[in-house]
Amino acid sequence: MFGTTRYIAWAMQFYGKVPYDLASSGTPLVTWAELGLPTPDIDDPRAYQALKDACARYNDVSPAEVTPAFGTTQAFFLAYAATLSPGDEVLVEHPGYEPLTRAAEGLGATVRTFERRAEEGFRVLPERVAAAIGPRTRAIVVTSLHNPTGVRVADETIRELAAIAEARGAYVIVNEVYAGFDDLPEDGVFRRSARKLDKNVIAVASLTKCYGLGMYRLGWLLGPEEIALRADAAAVATLGHMPLAHASYGAALFGEIGRLAKRAKVLLAGKREIASRWATSLPNAHWSAPESGLFGLVTLPGRGELLPRIEAHARETGVLVGAGTFFGAPESFRLAWATCDAARFEEGLRLLEPLVSRRA
Ligand SMILES: Cc1ncc(COP(=O)(O)O)c(C=O)c1O
Repeated sequence: MFGTTRYIAWAMQFYGKVPYDLASSGTPLVTWAELGLPTPDIDDPRAYQALKDACARYNDVSPAEVTPAFGTTQAFFLAYAATLSPGDEVLVEHPGYEPLTRAAEGLGATVRTFERRAEEGFRVLPERVAAAIGPRTRAIVVTSLHNPTGVRVADETIRELAAIAEARGAYVIVNEVYAGFDDLPEDGVFRRSARKLDKNVIAVASLTKCYGLGMYRLGWLLGPEEIALRADAAAVATLGHMPLAHASYGAALFGEIGRLAKRAKVLLAGKREIASRWATSLPNAHWSAPESGLFGLVTLPGRGELLPRIEAHARETGVLVGAGTFFGAPESFRLAWATCDAARFEEGLRLLEPLVSRRA
């Protein structure tokens, strides 16, 4: 059975509903009208294949490795459905994105975790993963960029995880929904998918975070052919097929990635540096120091559970940050710079100071 995802319930209550949203984790939405595109032929049955081909071209992989999905969310559900049976085990990073756990539990898998620690720069340590893996482990799951810290997992580390998994006949699932921020591709081709790092690496992602297309739900799974086929089977069993209109709009939107990448660069320019200067100037605080993306994690060791103070602060000042408690890091908050322009972001940071200086 699927448990409630507390994080999403909280996000729906607060995100986007405050004057200073330093919590939301996607590039501001772009509308169809702003794009100025003609309405696609939504009755053309060739749109399914066109969407799959467009996903493959964007990710620089073959269409046989692609299963289109509704957002990264359905993509990791399909990745689990393609790798896990009830009673199997999945190893998920901690702190982490809660739906990665809920989806696996819902499919009857046992979720075990491995730590990404502040004092280690939130890196994934393969030896820690190797120590945690068991005979029923079918998948190792990481996000890169990491939600909530924004830290990238090095390609070499993913290869090491792939070797650890391979020894057990298991897979590595890389959630790379934020990876596009490493290299927003103005030519519309993302060349760095973790899928290309080893034969047993499955990558899941979408156009939702980097390009302002959050509401279009254009996601995919990339995997070895046997996994793509099983993911297709899971999609057919749970969905039948995608709406044709979705495929038609989706195929058209892939043609716009280059200009949406430029737009994202303009919207984000300089703000990570502002966040970093602010966070590293805080006394007794730790900053996750992401090298790209649109958020990082501030940890206030010894201050206890921050959630009630984050909520009270949002009500008092209108400044909202993402509560770390939903990622398993209660003394932390995720600081995001996607939504406000630079001046407003700096204003929000000034208003945030009582939260970070206040004692428990
Ligand atoms: C790690 C991670 N995966 C998936 C998602 C959801 O992605 P999508 O909107 O494409 O389903 C999010 C959203 O915050 C996320 O942080």
